[in-house]
Amino acid sequence: MNVHLTTTPWATAAGDWLIVGIFQSLPSSGQLTALDDALGGQLSRLREANDLTGKSGELLALPAPPGIVAKRLLLVGLGAVEDLGEATLDRAMTAAARHVSTKKCEKVAVVAPDADCPGLPLERRVQILVAAFGVGCVGQDLYRAEKKRFAIGELEVLVEPARDRVALSAAVEAGVVLGEAINLARELVNEPARTMNPECFAARAAELARACGVHCEILDQPALEQERMGSLLAVAAGSDRAPRLVYLEYNGASEGPRLALVGKGVTFDSGGLSIKSNDNMLTMKCDMAGAATVLAALVAIARLKLPVRVIGLMGLVENMTGGSAMKLGDVLTARSGVTIEVLNTDAEGRLVLADVLDYAVSRGADFLVDLATLTGACVVALGEEVVGAMTNNQAWCNTLLAAARQAGEDMWQLPMHEHFAKLIESDVADIKNVGGRWGGAITAAKFLERFVCDKPWVHLDIAGPAFASSDKPFREAGATGCMVKTLVELARKFPSNI
Ligand code: BES
Ligand code: MN
Ligand code: ZN
Repeated sequence: MNVHLTTTPWATAAGDWLIVGIFQSLPSSGQLTALDDALGGQLSRLREANDLTGKSGELLALPAPPGIVAKRLLLVGLGAVEDLGEATLDRAMTAAARHVSTKKCEKVAVVAPDADCPGLPLERRVQILVAAFGVGCVGQDLYRAEKKRFAIGELEVLVEPARDRVALSAAVEAGVVLGEAINLARELVNEPARTMNPECFAARAAELARACGVHCEILDQPALEQERMGSLLAVAAGSDRAPRLVYLEYNGASEGPRLALVGKGVTFDSGGLSIKSNDNMLTMKCDMAGAATVLAALVAIARLKLPVRVIGLMGLVENMTGGSAMKLGDVLTARSGVTIEVLNTDAEGRLVLADVLDYAVSRGADFLVDLATLTGACVVALGEEVVGAMTNNQAWCNTLLAAARQAGEDMWQLPMHEHFAKLIESDVADIKNVGGRWGGAITAAKFLERFVCDKPWVHLDIAGPAFASSDKPFREAGATGCMVKTLVELARKFPSNI
């Protein structure tokens, strides 16, 4: 998608579509009045008939509108102007993009909403809009001959002539980078496990890192053995696919604290010998979403040349059954020396992250964030749309919550009281890998906490939001690319936000 800014008056913008955001109960003025005039008062009549309300998410398509140059007009509800936030604008614009991308479009003109919205500066609005169009035009039909969605050839963003073009061009660029990063995460997750195995993921990471000037190291099986990653290796043991650990390093600054992003990359989670039911296994190609998010965020951070030091680590394994699979009752020795009794081979994500978090600290991580599709319990607690946050450091968690709010992504903190740690004490080893029925998202986090060496750390459980079970007007089913925006936002302000 080719994106550019213009100051073309709306009514004269050419293209397959002209897309205009409409605020609720905001009297028409300026170009909106001019558009209404060009349309012979049609907008006013639609408003009077209550067919055009501006309610957030409302879409009204007018084919072949007389009096304007574009072939079709799409009116998009943006809600009340004083409420306009990142999430509402993103959802409205993604819905619009999804509406127009069901057919091939050479050119689409979209108006950057220019009303006075205190909470959201115009540059920010342009960035959100451009990213939303990038994401909304791409579906999950990687392997369908007959595509359901089509990329837009050219996106023209209409802005008022008096605006700061330099700042807006930077916003367009950031929007393109973000949209592409989200789509990268989605593509990696949507790709079936048959092709997206640890080796393939690592190769892709290396290629992407090279293209954006990020240092990349790949640890293969012998290297992981050398590092004594007994916990990660035990998960990989049941699979014919060898594990990998990807280490990325981006130095946008020569000094300052190191932000570490760590992702769970289980390319398929069968549950191992504690095998999952068919229904629970169906979507388990998504179990590497944490790793995909870390990779996508790092690529975006590097492309945006943010002045930060970030490392990204991805633990890549396949959790399978087989003659060499880990067994119930096995005791593993993690890289840190902690011994782990395995009581459920389906609680494998924490076994992988235990070694990757520990390795991240030895590679100089000062502040850690891990992302993992870790527990069904988190989905039970918070539903499919909200990310669970757990931490050993409240200030650092507040920073994450603020970044998520800024990025318009929903995140909620779960408690980490000391008594939860009791639930993972083992009689035969230092800890066990499951904590019983209750508080499952938290006992999983308590397990991870053992491996971060008291560094400030936030664990994000994305089991719900990473993969959507059905289409919504504002997003495609399948991988969502959630948290890419939040991580980029976090890095944008790092380290002044700690
Ligand atoms: N990958 C799953 C968690 C998951 C569930 C991700 C649903 C996405 C959607 C994880 O490895 C898992 O199996 N967790 C178990 C833990 C249990 C055995 C303690 C779970 O949640 O049931
Ligand atoms: Mn599992
Ligand atoms: Zn898993």
